[in-house]
Amino acid sequence: MIKAITGTKDILPSDIRKWYHLENLVRKVFQNYNYKEIRTPVFEETALFARGIGEETDIVSKEMYTFKDRSDTSVTLKPEMTAGVVRAFIEHSLGEKQPLTKVFYISPMFRQERPQAGRLRQFHQFGAEALGSSSPLLDAEMIEMAYEILNRLGLNDLTVKINSLGTPNSREVYKNELRKYLSDTKDKLTAESQIRFEKNILRIFDSKAEQDQQIMNKAPLLIDYLDNESKNDFEIVKNYLTNLNIPFEVDPKLVRGLDYYTKTTFEIISGKVGSQSSLCGGGRYDLLVEELGGKPTHSVGFAAGMERILLACENEEVLNVPEPSLDVYLVRIDNDLFIKVSEISSALRKNDLIVDYDYLARSVKAQMREANKMNARFVLFVGGDEYKNGALILKNLSTGEQEKIKSEDINFLINRIKNYGS
Ligand code: HAM
Repeated sequence: MIKAITGTKDILPSDIRKWYHLENLVRKVFQNYNYKEIRTPVFEETALFARGIGEETDIVSKEMYTFKDRSDTSVTLKPEMTAGVVRAFIEHSLGEKQPLTKVFYISPMFRQERPQAGRLRQFHQFGAEALGSSSPLLDAEMIEMAYEILNRLGLNDLTVKINSLGTPNSREVYKNELRKYLSDTKDKLTAESQIRFEKNILRIFDSKAEQDQQIMNKAPLLIDYLDNESKNDFEIVKNYLTNLNIPFEVDPKLVRGLDYYTKTTFEIISGKVGSQSSLCGGGRYDLLVEELGGKPTHSVGFAAGMERILLACENEEVLNVPEPSLDVYLVRIDNDLFIKVSEISSALRKNDLIVDYDYLARSVKAQMREANKMNARFVLFVGGDEYKNGALILKNLSTGEQEKIKSEDINFLINRIKNYGS
């Protein structure tokens, strides 16, 4: 039997209401902040991600789904959205149409990571990007939107962590300091961190290994090497968050796994999802548009993992989204009335009622069982002596009340069902 690929997951009908709820909330909150939706292709030229995210990052060096298509072009399933959004921004000259472009997205992403709870190979992100302003108010707005969505879901166990990675110049000065600091001890780092020492030194802070952490605990911190501009912007972000009553922690070791960040970075962590605890992450990327061939454009954004958020909701026992109940289940008393049942159903469905009936020629008793199982508000009996006399029987399943309705008076029937109890 062929099974789903490791690290991919079916979203079954029993789970779909949670996804609808989350997607609707995301659309609503982003629209409140006047962000417009963007949809970019699922695959792009590999070079876009290699240049955009950074050759030395884990994503590009070991996690991308990359293949040659039939015309020998190297393409990659998108591991994240920011590079694709920036490509579309440049390609369609969005920056010329308005000075600030605010977009959001909801989309599947693909990374060949080792699957575990909260870590998949096909997962879904929602996120937002604002291209065209260096205002730190937008950095804070990103955090505010993410926090608002998580809050509205009812999540409580959240920690907002923020940091500033400064401008590239201040970062270079700092990296030299870090290299100096590690020059004597680097042989004591794990093999992976020794590779990072050469290729992406800041990422050593991400190591969970005890031996690395002992060394990194005493390392100099980038936040102490920030230039004035980065420092000022960071202060503004902090003031704005305080003013918005968003609790946050400054985490000087928060380095993020993508190379494009400058200045503010942030993550929101859940205490309820185990080791893959980052529900969302983002930050400013003031140089990326230019690096990908566009005009210099200050930008900031974030993305959130939807499976992880739903896992956090499950573990915090919030987000109980009830199935909408069926308005009417039609019970066919005589088997030669299939056509009539389908005709009445069709009229009710066209009037926005949720309607179902039996397609399997089951007994009246079995049909009633099905109506109860589907939590129907009403049952409509079609057949028997009443039908011969031109009537249908509408039964309210919660009160047990029954009512005779003329079978040709479908509009009356629709009104009864829609307005019952109001
Ligand atoms: P990221 O930190 O790589 O950032 O991913 C954002 C979120 O996606 C993570 O916090 C996590 O919740 C979720 N995520 C990542 N990988 C997986 C996975 N394998 N399985 C399940 N969930 C996962 C970005 O992608 C940046 N593009 C964010 C950004 C936008 N920065 C600026 N603009």
